[in-house]
Amino acid sequence: MTVTPSTKKIAILPGDGIGKEVIAEARELLELYREKGGLPLDLWDLDLGADRYLNDGTTMPDDVLADIHRSSAVLLGALGDPRVPDQRHAREILFGIRFGCDLYANVRPVRPLADSLVPLKNKRAEQIDFVVFRENTEGLYADIGGQLRRGTADEIAISEDVNTRKGVERIIVAAFEHAKTTGKTRVHMADKSNAMRHAHDLWQRVFREVSGRYPGIEGEHMYIDALCLKVVQAPEAFQVIVTNNLFGDIVTDLAAALQGGLGMAASANVHAADPSRVAMFEPVHGSAPMLAGKDAANPFAAFLTVGMMLSHLGWPAEERRIEETVVRALTLGRCTSDVGGALGTKAVGAFVRGEIGRSLDAFRSMLGG
Ligand code: NAD
Ligand code: IPM
Ligand code: MN
Repeated sequence: MTVTPSTKKIAILPGDGIGKEVIAEARELLELYREKGGLPLDLWDLDLGADRYLNDGTTMPDDVLADIHRSSAVLLGALGDPRVPDQRHAREILFGIRFGCDLYANVRPVRPLADSLVPLKNKRAEQIDFVVFRENTEGLYADIGGQLRRGTADEIAISEDVNTRKGVERIIVAAFEHAKTTGKTRVHMADKSNAMRHAHDLWQRVFREVSGRYPGIEGEHMYIDALCLKVVQAPEAFQVIVTNNLFGDIVTDLAAALQGGLGMAASANVHAADPSRVAMFEPVHGSAPMLAGKDAANPFAAFLTVGMMLSHLGWPAEERRIEETVVRALTLGRCTSDVGGALGTKAVGAFVRGEIGRSLDAFRSMLGG
């Protein structure tokens, strides 16, 4: 293809298990956008994951990471394979990109697309609409620690919880900025400062300070355990939740259950202060080894993730088009069994692309093109 300055280079990293299956569908959607929608996309396929690692020991090469830095976005499936018991490849690839590109905000929207997907008694989809800002570069994920006398009765294992002022402040600012630009009135910060008093006291102080800079937005603190209870009992109370890396990981799987499961949950990893930098987009779900190879994985999370990516790259109307198409597929039952249908991954993918292709054609003929 001709590479113009506006061309967006997108690294496609399917990874392992169902990651490969859902990203194959998502990649075809991007091809459709390139061929029919006229989007200037340069798709760059990355053969990284368990197969490659087991074959030649490669995880995330430095030169590939350097090229990722110069790209517009990464679309990632999932990493994790039972043949690699310590999941070394998964950490080195996933954290290689999250940490290596300083993608400090893991943005995970929680908004069920149909009433039928909401598992809570007496709750409708419209009552659940919040977004989790998960700190994505430090905390207990910082890989500082060690083991002593491994395998003996006197073994010691330590993982340090790293919280820097800069790191805590920038994720809290990102959450408030998001609230401000989207007209939200409340930001919840969840920590465990009653038990983890050193690190989470820092979160408390920074949250109060940043909160004071946004007079129109209410900053509310909750302990993470109580927040989990309330997310299930009264999800309508939440608009924006900001929390650390580990708590954000856990609460977004819980929140995915409110959306119809992991097959429906999309996410973005961004350097929020500078959106022109490369960003990574991935469904919240993992490689689901038990589901892999059965053509049974729900590709909607991957499609909705493509929507987030296209919006980030400057095409917000395409995020809406993809979301509306997923809603239509759900309404017609053209979906996988986890969300009430009887189709396989590929058939759902073909349906979604067929609908989007028709919608793009209709738009073009309206313009007389
Ligand atoms: P998982 O997300 O793979 O699966 C959890 C449950 O959700 C399973 O019951 C699975 O069948 C279901 N599920 C997930 N995605 C689905 C989809 N698209 N359609 C239908 N059902 C779906 O979590 P896990 O089993 O704890 O982890 C499996 C592997 O994935 C592990 O190695 C883990 O470390 C890895 N993982 C990777 C990522 C990532 O790369 N971003 C995220 C989470 C887990
Ligand atoms: C996620 C995943 C990862 C995480 C794992 C695979 C390390 O669970 O993206 O939610 O904990 O960040
Ligand atoms: Mn997770």
